[in-house]
Amino acid sequence: MPRILITGTSSGFGRATALHFLDRGWEVLATMRSPSADGWPADPRLRLMALDVTEPDGIAAAVAAAGPLDALVNNAGVGMLNVLEGAEIDRARALFDINVLGTMAMTRAVMPGMRAAGGGVIVNISSAVTLTALPALSVYSASKAAVNAFTESLALEAAPFGIRLRLVLPGSAPDTAFGRNAVARMGMEIPESHASFMQDSLRTLRAAPERTLPQDVALAVWRAVTDDRAPMRLPAGADALALARAAGLAA
Ligand SMILES: NC(=O)c1ccc[n+]([C@@H]2O[C@H](COP(=O)([O-])OP(=O)(O)OC[C@H]3O[C@@H](n4cnc5c(N)ncnc54)[C@H](OP(=O)(O)O)[C@@H]3O)[C@@H](O)[C@H]2O)c1
Repeated sequence: MPRILITGTSSGFGRATALHFLDRGWEVLATMRSPSADGWPADPRLRLMALDVTEPDGIAAAVAAAGPLDALVNNAGVGMLNVLEGAEIDRARALFDINVLGTMAMTRAVMPGMRAAGGGVIVNISSAVTLTALPALSVYSASKAAVNAFTESLALEAAPFGIRLRLVLPGSAPDTAFGRNAVARMGMEIPESHASFMQDSLRTLRAAPERTLPQDVALAVWRAVTDDRAPMRLPAGADALALARAAGLAA
């Protein structure tokens, strides 16, 4: 039975992706910072595991406990909605620690096992913010652009070992815990100088008519893992698809 490990499954895209793979017969290691069985089906193929992607010892322990993996999904991430002058550098550093270095550390931890097994797939959850410039998202967009560059370069050195890397680029999903978590963890103190810019930015961001659903992301990850002809960057959600078409990345 194929086995997948997914980070950040306490809510949103990670949880939807875990349930999707479980429904399709995979063994799923659903990892989260504070595991809770709430809302999860009782299924012997599902293992809930503690994992904070910023803790090296915890990563090593979780990967060792997981055993051989066919796929890894680096989904854990946090947002930041602010102008740069309102974004404290310590918070930007913490965001990069989760979104970028967490992705690198998880990937680095699973690669020896995948190499030994002759292959595997690693899917990194990026964002459609890397397809266009959106306001008040400079720090977050930079973190996801870093994930893109990391993934595309690493794909070259992983390919000789049969390891495939792919990117999923979700659009905006107001129904996950993302916005709430971004404000709770990264703050949203807007400098007075930028108050009207921020109001305009929020209007722009909320005006997008088409949205991404967690299921759109689950389906894109499924394709990335199971279809070895899937393109490197897979947009997920109607809004992401529209941006990808405008950027010439999708038909
Ligand atoms: N929602 C959007 O509009 C959107 C759009 C494009 C891309 N994305 C990306 O999609 C991914 C999932 O986002 P989502 O919308 O599903 O948001 P979400 O509901 O907030 O889920 C994010 C998950 O990441 C986990 N996480 C945060 N810090 C972590 C850490 N240090 N170690 C392990 N897990 C950690 C959270 O766990 P806790 O509950 O423990 O905090 C949560 O389970 C993120 O990478 C995000 O950047 C989101």
